[in-house]
Amino acid sequence: MTSDHAPEWWRTAAIYQIYPRSFSDADGDGMGDLRGVTTRLDALRELGVDAIWLSPFMTSPQRDAGYDVADYCDVDPLFGDLADFDAMLAAAHERGIRMIVDLVPNHSSDQHPWFQEALKAAPGSRERARYIFRDGQGEHGEEPPNNWQSVFGGPAWTRVTEADGDATGPNGPQWYLHLFDASQPDFDWANEEVREEFRRILRFWLDRGVDGFRVDVAHGLVKHDELPDYMPPEDSDSMGGTEPVPYWGQEGVHEIYRDWHRVLAEYDGDRALCAEAWMPTAAEVALWVRPDEMHQAFNFPYLQAPWDAARLREVIEESLEAFGGVGAPTTWVLSNHDVVRHATRLALGPGHPQGHGVGPKTPGKPDPAVGLRRGRAATALMLALPGSAYLYQGEELGLPEVIELPDDARQDPTWFRTGGERYGRDGCRVPIPWEAHAPAYGFNDTGATWLPQPSEWAELARDQQEGDADSTLNLYKTLLRLRREHALASGELSWIDGLPPQTVAFRNTGVTVIANLGAEPVALPAGRLLVASTPFDGDALPADTTVWIAED
Ligand code: BGC
Repeated sequence: MTSDHAPEWWRTAAIYQIYPRSFSDADGDGMGDLRGVTTRLDALRELGVDAIWLSPFMTSPQRDAGYDVADYCDVDPLFGDLADFDAMLAAAHERGIRMIVDLVPNHSSDQHPWFQEALKAAPGSRERARYIFRDGQGEHGEEPPNNWQSVFGGPAWTRVTEADGDATGPNGPQWYLHLFDASQPDFDWANEEVREEFRRILRFWLDRGVDGFRVDVAHGLVKHDELPDYMPPEDSDSMGGTEPVPYWGQEGVHEIYRDWHRVLAEYDGDRALCAEAWMPTAAEVALWVRPDEMHQAFNFPYLQAPWDAARLREVIEESLEAFGGVGAPTTWVLSNHDVVRHATRLALGPGHPQGHGVGPKTPGKPDPAVGLRRGRAATALMLALPGSAYLYQGEELGLPEVIELPDDARQDPTWFRTGGERYGRDGCRVPIPWEAHAPAYGFNDTGATWLPQPSEWAELARDQQEGDADSTLNLYKTLLRLRREHALASGELSWIDGLPPQTVAFRNTGVTVIANLGAEPVALPAGRLLVASTPFDGDALPADTTVWIAED
């Protein structure tokens, strides 16, 4: 930030994640689309968000819901075309809403022309050098090059069938690395050609006017030179792991983002990069947002904190210190398309690693009423914190995770690659309800949906919540309005001591915020109640409730 420049928008923005498959479907084929997004922008303006993060919409065989890109510079016909994209972006900008798009640089689809060329080319060729091809181990190369496991389960290497049959030398056909599905081969970022191609892709979308990028698997692009064996601990988070991991957080990734920072800086309008970097601590995540690198990085240690006051205070403190220490905002987040929705997650006990999901056979079903109450309290706490915040479509309706999805509806590669052992992420991706009494709850007008919607969702539809002052939708609108009016996002947090240990309590620019995570009510200080995450009578703060109080 320079003195003649207003603070950059991304330091304080409330950013709403649209998962286009499940947001709004204009053509009625059961899969959301970009024209659907355009028709719903007024609802987002009324909600009060500053920007949108749009999950993948680029050309893709959809083996991982679009995170398997075959053409980085076009729109998949499922979602529309580039003209629809331009119209959507212009309509968002007309409403004062910025838009960042998802960029997937760790891997492409196996249908990307480069990978198809690599398969046809010989070992050692320029075409192979864009990905990570290696000879296998064992006498005839029949063992994978190392023991790495895919995040989605199973081995991270797949052996190819060579175009020239057996004429490949003593080691036989090569293997290629895929940290995710076999249809998602990892690029080799040591190769300058890959780097140049991504500069071109960045410029393609920046020239079209996007406000920035959410960068997928931003901690994974560079692998340890020697590809040493590594096995994640049993039951670890699918994208977490404890350091050192030879494919996460390698020092070399940072140079890539310094380079991208320079590309974005050529453009006006404070374009921004947001890292999806699943690192264990805030201090490690903060490495991605040093002044010459990215601008934001999702605070996953915060997302992963259990519903526990002491842990939340600790992670908030660590985050403000770590991000503040490099001059970056903290980027708070509770839900996205990869995790169990927080209105369910916060009522689940321990032992549900991220990415594994919940389903009909998961032991210990969460109580939906407790989950919703905690979910609302957690959001009220998050939106009072200084920094930027991300919301995931449907959380403003209090949507829970869909646990009872039938097995034959599931589409997440995790489900298939673990033989149904892990449910994966479909339960947070179900098309969202707009109108209670319309086909597909107003998602489209044909009733088709790529994942089935639960019948209980009629009462959660947006039109049912609009006129109800106590609805989750109106809570989100109020929180976002007050956050703006009191400039909480650019404020400073000071802890309030002396309250019971089950509380998280702080002041931010004249607003007192108290969350009660315990079972017992807590006496409230004097002041004017601005908002309560769940309405209550009396002057004691009930369990699982957050309040904002004005000190005037
Ligand atoms: C995305 C996931 C995706 C994976 C592979 C992630 O971190 O958010 O949805 O499956 O990257 O691209």
